[in-house]
Amino acid sequence: MLKIRNGDLMENNKVTISVIKADVGGLCGHTLAPDELLEACEAVLEEAVDEIILDYYVTRCGDDIDLIMSHKLGCDNEKVHGLAWKAFEEATKIAKELKLYGAGQDLLSDSFSGNVRGMGPGCAEMEFVERKSEPIVVFCCDKTDPTAFNYPLFKMFADPFNTAGLVFDPSMISGFRFEVHDVVGHKKVFLDTPEEMYMLLALIGDYEKYAIKRVYRRRDNEIAAVVSTEKLNYIAGEYVGKDDPVAIVRAQSGFPAVGEVLEPFANPHFVPGWMRGSHWGPIMPVGEEDATPTRFDGPARVIALGFQVCDGMLIGPNDLFADRGFDKAREKALEMADIIRRMGPFQPHRLPATMMEYTTVPKVLEALEDRFIPLEGLELIEEGGITRKDRGDVE
Ligand code: F6R
Ligand code: MG
Ligand code: MG
Repeated sequence: MLKIRNGDLMENNKVTISVIKADVGGLCGHTLAPDELLEACEAVLEEAVDEIILDYYVTRCGDDIDLIMSHKLGCDNEKVHGLAWKAFEEATKIAKELKLYGAGQDLLSDSFSGNVRGMGPGCAEMEFVERKSEPIVVFCCDKTDPTAFNYPLFKMFADPFNTAGLVFDPSMISGFRFEVHDVVGHKKVFLDTPEEMYMLLALIGDYEKYAIKRVYRRRDNEIAAVVSTEKLNYIAGEYVGKDDPVAIVRAQSGFPAVGEVLEPFANPHFVPGWMRGSHWGPIMPVGEEDATPTRFDGPARVIALGFQVCDGMLIGPNDLFADRGFDKAREKALEMADIIRRMGPFQPHRLPATMMEYTTVPKVLEALEDRFIPLEGLELIEEGGITRKDRGDVE
């Protein structure tokens, strides 16, 4: 498991971690990216070691393949993104040969043009100066979307009941800065905790519109966390479904401890996704072996892989949610799943129309359009009937 290559490639001590993911085929249905696809990706990345990347680890969460790479080329680098694209293309060839389900589904273009953003794959990247010891946690999810990280990132970086270090570590006491994206309005805002915590919550509690993209430590503006938010439903105006997200979080000495980074998942929260990307359900923390969502195509899974970055090499991973300490969280998630499943196609199990991945409901309504008849008496209200304001209920 442990590998050491020499650190000759470290001409400076800045390193970039890129996690690029895509679903290019499932066995069977949307449940699992099989070994053959992971092996195809590994072969491509292995060829690029010392040419483009320093090190890599390939994993999966459900039907998504996650390429975890370290290199010296910075974020949004064409060579690194091109490499990921090539790996997914090779995996797609096999997926097509095996007639896997949804073969090549996340490669939305026939050719690569400089960057995977907007082309289907999701991507979380951060560049930093490697500390004396650099622990990072890479999260990979299936059957949910990037807003699944709003709640846990808030707890990790802004909730002292989760992160004792916010109170006890002097380098964290000045708090963290959250970069929040308005994914509908295509704009972003920076909010500082603890002072602006309530405003932050006012935004990120709304999964329809706001997603946390990055977190910075305020003391020195060091990057602390980043989430893939490429494909929040729309690319170039076209609806392309939910994007099972990935995230990178730095841990220890001045950042939350590994245990504080994992703690929000000990009490599972509800996330959008699950069956047909159209239901609320719990997110279940699991080890790599259990990242196989099958019940009602779920419930949503998250794995957490811990690495020590050492001269740009990825030492590890430690499969952090495999710990028995998360058994109870899994039990709770399954109980939550049972409870909400009872609602079937009714809200609040079913997502509001604007958040559903399946946009076919309007088509059902179209078929009914001619059958709708105006409600009698409605004109009374429309023509100035009694309103709450008239009754003095509201100002
Ligand atoms: C959710 C997901 C699955 C599919 C479902 C139907 O993100 O991937 O739940 O939506 O299996 O898939 P299709 O429409 O491909 O038959
Ligand atoms: Mg799929
Ligand atoms: Mg998936």
